[in-house]
Amino acid sequence: MSTLPPTDYTHFTIQPLTLHIGAEVNGIDLSKPLHQDVLDELCAAFVTWKVLFFREQCLGHAEHVAFAKQMGTPTIGHAVFGHVEGFPEVYSIGKHRVANSTRNQKATRPWTGWHTDITAAVNPPSASILRGVDIPPYGGDTYWTNLAMAYHGLSEPFHRFLETLNGVHQFEVPQQLTGGTEYSKEIEDRYMESVHPLITVHPITGERLLFISPDFIDRIEGLSPQESELMLEFLWEHAVKPEYTVRYKWQPGDVAMWDNRSTAHRAPSDIFQTDFDRQLYRVTLVGEPLIGVDGRKSQAISGDPILSADEELRLSTIQ
Ligand code: SIN
Repeated sequence: MSTLPPTDYTHFTIQPLTLHIGAEVNGIDLSKPLHQDVLDELCAAFVTWKVLFFREQCLGHAEHVAFAKQMGTPTIGHAVFGHVEGFPEVYSIGKHRVANSTRNQKATRPWTGWHTDITAAVNPPSASILRGVDIPPYGGDTYWTNLAMAYHGLSEPFHRFLETLNGVHQFEVPQQLTGGTEYSKEIEDRYMESVHPLITVHPITGERLLFISPDFIDRIEGLSPQESELMLEFLWEHAVKPEYTVRYKWQPGDVAMWDNRSTAHRAPSDIFQTDFDRQLYRVTLVGEPLIGVDGRKSQAISGDPILSADEELRLSTIQ
């Protein structure tokens, strides 16, 4: 792949942060409703650049949700861990949420902490929109990787083999938390496991994607445990090579919006070495089951699809 993504847009300017992933968008105020022409162009830039960054937006929860509703249909804040009180679509990503604070206890490998959001569900969110509120003066950067570039970085014979395979994705209780904490109970109560093609096709761009999500994939279906482990370790390490990634330095008020179908990301673990606070909030958009190159679809093994926040709330009042 030698052509670079376009940078010319009519309704805003794009400042790429790397050659193939991540661009700052200037000239848009996300706190106001956007005209359909602007939204159409924004969607085109979004699937092209895969992560868009909007500086100094300073949205509140209501404005965050209102913007998300213009891009798609918000899910419940988090399908397993719930939402911010009064805002069913908003999930709090604070420094000391248990999911984060356990990260630095795991053995550190190049792919440790990398994931695509909630791939244990049969329909992982299509997009995630994260806004920074309390941001450390330094440290606390987020990384994303381009799964289309990761696919292109592999050879043709290997593509053909990988395209036949499926990954089994699980929402597992981290090993160090199996002692019945509230966090592990929430995961067990809403246990999710799904099978996704290892190579997926993006529903809008048609790009082929190396759909690996290191924190969620347990194994490759049909391979022996040793084959699966060795193959996954190779693919995970490959997918997070620096040349496929972008690293973002947050400022308070910034918004990052990523295509959850074509990227994986890594939250920072360095924040636990400081007393600096870090608080962000995320809204995710409802996604579809994924599709392989031969048209086969993701299958749920356990757990329900992720619904819209409205639908989740309606069902919870019936139960
Ligand atoms: C996330 O994993 O969605 C949050 C990323 C971050 O905290 O930087």
